[in-house]
Amino acid sequence: MFVCICHGITEEDIETAVGQGVNSMQQLREQLNVANQCGRCMQFAKSTLAMASERYDLATQLT
Ligand code: FES
Repeated sequence: MFVCICHGITEEDIETAVGQGVNSMQQLREQLNVANQCGRCMQFAKSTLAMASERYDLATQLT
């Protein structure tokens, strides 16, 4: 599903970024440009980042 239409960023793109070490909105904005144009995706991007981070933390605790 698309999170940021302006830049074509999907939930999968955010999950990949989290796997590469992104752990804040600032880093996400710098890496993917998410929420850097119209800004309408900001809340959805934040919640997607939070969920992806939780999943990543759980996955790393299990390994
Ligand atoms: S939808 Fe993300 S900046 Fe416009």
